[in-house]
Amino acid sequence: MSDDSGPLPKAPPAHAAADWTITQDWTGYTPAEHAMWDRLFARQSAMLEGRATEAYLRGLDVLRLSKPGIPDLAELSERLTALTGWRVAAVAGLVPDEVFFRHLANRTFVAGRFIRTPDHSDYLEEPDIFHDVFGHVPLLADRRFADYMQAYGQGGLRSLRYGALHHLARLYWYTVEFGLVREAGGLRLYGAGIVSSYGESRFALEDPSPNRLGFDLMRVMRTRYRIDDFQQTYFVIDSFEDLLRQTVETDFAPLYRALEGAADLEPDAVLDGDAVLHRGTQAYAATR
Ligand code: PHE
Ligand code: FE
Repeated sequence: MSDDSGPLPKAPPAHAAADWTITQDWTGYTPAEHAMWDRLFARQSAMLEGRATEAYLRGLDVLRLSKPGIPDLAELSERLTALTGWRVAAVAGLVPDEVFFRHLANRTFVAGRFIRTPDHSDYLEEPDIFHDVFGHVPLLADRRFADYMQAYGQGGLRSLRYGALHHLARLYWYTVEFGLVREAGGLRLYGAGIVSSYGESRFALEDPSPNRLGFDLMRVMRTRYRIDDFQQTYFVIDSFEDLLRQTVETDFAPLYRALEGAADLEPDAVLDGDAVLHRGTQAYAATR
């Protein structure tokens, strides 16, 4: 999902169901495609040891299925449903926001069917099955995060009625995709866009370039983001419980009203009121 994805067709493609899902056709993947998954999985699970949050690392086990290679989404869904009631369904590409939100509200995560080719193993702008499944599914095995994602879907449908989708999309971006969490031993990764990226896993935690700021809901909903490169700012939550309290248990209608009069913030902004854990040098961004 993004807030600037441009015009999308209103009707699903011919081979898709009315809810935009398609059959995964697991037997249709080539050996090279399965090998790509296995390579990315091995490289990234080693990278995340000691970097990803406990809940994510625990959830990684649901991806260890009966056969190697790209997960069979039917088998994966069975495992995941038993844990938290979520399932994963394939789609042909980006789907309209409303369709995406409705799936989340029904505890269905939609995933791209295709996998990246070797010349694109590092940065992708369109999510493939490695990002969607390796990045997102482990946390859907965590009760708290599973609830957050469903509530986000319901909140997404609601945001459309308030004309506030772009504000709520920023919350998704800075939590679900690029969030960091404070843990006893220091900062850890939980955002799917980070944990599925070899380069950004290190960059987000260890590089002096980006800002690392305490999570503040209104601040986040005012902050623009970049989709073409590593983030210039990461927001750090205190815990998943705290994130749920600030979002699931909060009525956003008055917040949307207040946001109408507030100016957008640049992706690299640091404000007087920010809880600054690390003020970024932005050295990396300056070279791009
Ligand atoms: N509680 C929010 C609302 O009133 C919706 C929401 C839930 C947003 C969970 C994000 C995450 O609209
Ligand atoms: Fe994603």
